[in-house]
Amino acid sequence: MANIVYIATSIDGYIAKSDGGIDWLNEIPNTQGSDYGFGDFMSRIDGILMGRSTYEIVMDYEVWFYTKPVYVLSNSWTQLPGKWAHKAQLLKGDIVEVIDTLNQQGIINIYVDGGKVIQSLLAADKIDEMIITRVPIVLGSGIPLFTPDLPELKFEHTGTETYEGGLVKSSYVRINY
Ligand SMILES: NC(=O)c1ccc[n+]([C@@H]2O[C@H](COP(=O)([O-])OP(=O)(O)OC[C@H]3O[C@@H](n4cnc5c(N)ncnc54)[C@H](OP(=O)(O)O)[C@@H]3O)[C@@H](O)[C@H]2O)c1
Repeated sequence: MANIVYIATSIDGYIAKSDGGIDWLNEIPNTQGSDYGFGDFMSRIDGILMGRSTYEIVMDYEVWFYTKPVYVLSNSWTQLPGKWAHKAQLLKGDIVEVIDTLNQQGIINIYVDGGKVIQSLLAADKIDEMIITRVPIVLGSGIPLFTPDLPELKFEHTGTETYEGGLVKSSYVRINY
């Protein structure tokens, strides 16, 4: 059972520009058509839990690239908007209880996505693994992956891979010592 972060950040730790833009991710050279290990990662997980704001970006994508069930967490929406609404399920409530419910439904290994969702789970010490790809750009401002109020949490580094475009993907698992 694991809640896993798989995310890209700028050198200065932002996951999106202040307006939510991720054009800087789409501009990275990729002449070999690498998926950066995303397919292998998707095969490991049972479902994706994303925040409402992340879905607001995803719902405008031309292609739905998730191969596992997607759950969107929002306590303000009553239904999912957009052309991909039929591909995802809206969930409400306390995030830890939502994860417990998903686990009971057989969604055991969960890809958690969205800055605030990740921060909520870090605050509750419910993140087991983080796979963070550092993109060689300083954005200066934006939506941060980590916020100053998070607790101290120790992780073990389990590997690093580099990709075209200067991407550095590092994996960490939560440990206590
Ligand atoms: N660089 C990358 O790899 C990457 C990956 C994913 C996302 N992004 C970007 O990150 C941005 C979205 O991140 P974000 O931090 O703004 O928001 P987010 O985590 O995607 O969504 C936050 C929203 O989720 C809902 N929510 C409900 N319960 C929650 C809880 N317990 N904790 C946290 N959220 C809860 C709330 O919406 P309600 O008010 O409706 O309840 C909240 O405003 C987008 O711009 C997206 O493109 C980048």
